[in-house]
Amino acid sequence: MMTDGPLTPPIDWTQLRVLRDLFLSGEPVTEDYWSSQRLLRDYDITLGERIGWKWDAVIQELQVRGWTPPSSRLYDMGCGTGVAARRMLKAFPGAFKAVTLWDRSDRALKYAKQKIRHEHPFVKVETVRECPTPHGVVALSHVLTECADEDAAQIVEALEGAKAVVWVEPGTYAMSRMLIEVREALRDSFHVRAPCTHQAGCGLLAEGMNAHWCHHFAPAVAGAHQNPFWGHFRREMNLDIGPVAYSFLALDTKPAPEEPGASHLIGRPIRQPKFLRVLSCQEEDVAELVASRKCPLYRELKQELTPALYRFERKKNRIVDGKNLSCKT
Ligand SMILES: C[S@@+](CC[C@H](N)C(=O)[O-])C[C@H]1O[C@@H](n2cnc3c(N)ncnc32)[C@H](O)[C@@H]1O
Repeated sequence: MMTDGPLTPPIDWTQLRVLRDLFLSGEPVTEDYWSSQRLLRDYDITLGERIGWKWDAVIQELQVRGWTPPSSRLYDMGCGTGVAARRMLKAFPGAFKAVTLWDRSDRALKYAKQKIRHEHPFVKVETVRECPTPHGVVALSHVLTECADEDAAQIVEALEGAKAVVWVEPGTYAMSRMLIEVREALRDSFHVRAPCTHQAGCGLLAEGMNAHWCHHFAPAVAGAHQNPFWGHFRREMNLDIGPVAYSFLALDTKPAPEEPGASHLIGRPIRQPKFLRVLSCQEEDVAELVASRKCPLYRELKQELTPALYRFERKKNRIVDGKNLSCKT
């Protein structure tokens, strides 16, 4: 175990690397790996905090798009240290009266419950070991990565009675494609609120789109790149601090405000000497579009803003003008 300096808590980097390797293995994990409170704490302030940045980006997008929680009851399924629930509670103060935490690990449930009690003393917290049938807002975070197919199917089935679902996973090909499957399975029971700007079938399921996946990038929290703790994290874990790639899906029983003609960018723009190439998702298709330096949106597109929500004026595959729809607030 090593100490990271007087201002940062000592972290057991070896244990964290074992955990990271387990998460990256891509195999279902059936054992409870939360072997100590210490590991939960180390995870919470490192890998869990990075996941928190993804939640911040997703919640910011939901807020830009006019979403507010439709129920005062929040569920965090596969809660771990409760990152997802805690980010939601912080972003929507007073909106939630009760939180249900579900995990197979008693240690994780205890840790998450204590953290929420400490940060939000007026919120009622219950913990459950069996998969709940939620009737409120459900947060899911980085659970598909380790679920066997039958566990994933059980979770998706349990979501049918929810009021809203916000599901965040790593921005990998496999996770994006699994979330697309979830979207298609639940599309008849919910309105799709994000990232899609439409209710049609996913354009990435169209012929020729097999190489693509729906992912986005969340910036690190301000100051992280200058913070010695995060420099240490990068060296010890061999992981970038940020931006961090994520895939997500937000569903609600209530329809979204109309966003006619809106597009959501996927991934990052690709810079060419004289133009930018973007992958743009809209109701009719997912299409590769180009913006030349003359396009009024060129500079903005180059900045890779999050959320990347636009209404484009197009001439075939060229973006000639348009509007950033993220500037409503
Ligand atoms: C990678 S961790 C993510 C934790 C947290 N949601 C986050 O984003 O930081 C996955 C969590 O899901 C839990 N989990 C995995 N499979 C599960 C299952 N079949 N039933 C209940 N919990 C499960 C694990 O115990 C672990 O806490």
